[in-house]
Amino acid sequence: MSEFKELLKARTREAEEIIRKYLPEEKGHQRLIMEAMNYSMNAGGKRLRPLLMMESCRLFGGDIREAEPFMAAIEMIHTSSLIHDDLPCMDNDRFRRGKESTWAKFGEDFGVLAGDALIVEAFAAAAKGILASAHPERAGRAMGILAEKTGIYGMIGGQVVDVQLTNQPIPKDKLDFIYRLKTGALLEASMMIGAVLAGAGEEQQEKMSGIALNAGLAFQIRDDILDVTSSQEVLGKPVGSDEKNCKTTYVTLEGIDAAKEEAARLCEAAVSALGSLGGKNEFLEQLLLMLAAREK
Ligand code: IPE
Ligand code: IPE
Ligand code: MG
Ligand code: MG
Ligand code: MG
Repeated sequence: MSEFKELLKARTREAEEIIRKYLPEEKGHQRLIMEAMNYSMNAGGKRLRPLLMMESCRLFGGDIREAEPFMAAIEMIHTSSLIHDDLPCMDNDRFRRGKESTWAKFGEDFGVLAGDALIVEAFAAAAKGILASAHPERAGRAMGILAEKTGIYGMIGGQVVDVQLTNQPIPKDKLDFIYRLKTGALLEASMMIGAVLAGAGEEQQEKMSGIALNAGLAFQIRDDILDVTSSQEVLGKPVGSDEKNCKTTYVTLEGIDAAKEEAARLCEAAVSALGSLGGKNEFLEQLLLMLAAREK
């Protein structure tokens, strides 16, 4: 196994352990909602967003312990977005992370509630992060970023336009807008929060935002490609979802080859901008390059 892959495995395990500490205990009359939340959180996933946060914090010489509650928070928000994205009223997909989707397993009502509950628990984790922080002001700003990039100016805003424009041709500039929000915003939050918690300055935060948005766009373009070229066994989620839902994607707009080139170009731009920040984190560079070439 390559050195990068080994490190990726070890760091993913580290992230898993951190996330687990923030999951709810399954007890009380409302126990079923905790089970539904933990079902999807424990189903795995690449844990890309917590990893990007941890490595961005490392890049600026920060203390990873400051990032822990926010790593759990971003993964909860991301997981909530997947649970809601799969609902019959959204993409209507029955399979996720190698298992039945949350709504398919627990019912549509519990899919809605589990997604809602994970978003709220994410902010509860962030609040704990502020109280425990050696730099509460930084942690407060981190929580603000988390809210902005989750809500109407971030992931939710992107999903709104995605849903509104289903069944319609979408010009490239509008598709970029959707991708930068629905997918880019949570990557942006991850990298910015890592930087903020480590004490990076305004200019560096801005640069991290730009890097993450390019990486996020590349990540979603690769997702579009895999939806056409991969399999449910490899991805752990259904393929052909975009065609089924009549979505305009980078593949329908540009074709697979041009989409691949665009994703690679965006990741290279992200890595080259990372190089202008001063610090060095080779693992983060490789992680960003992987986004355009990943197989799942
Ligand atoms: C899937 O995200 C949703 C998109 C934004 C394309 P991931 O591919 O990161 O999903 P997991 O977390 O690994 O399951
Ligand atoms: C959704 O994009 C991104 C989210 C905010 C969840 P997709 O609908 O393409 O994500 P997948 O392919 O279902 O993971
Ligand atoms: Mg979708
Ligand atoms: Mg989907
Ligand atoms: Mg997709």
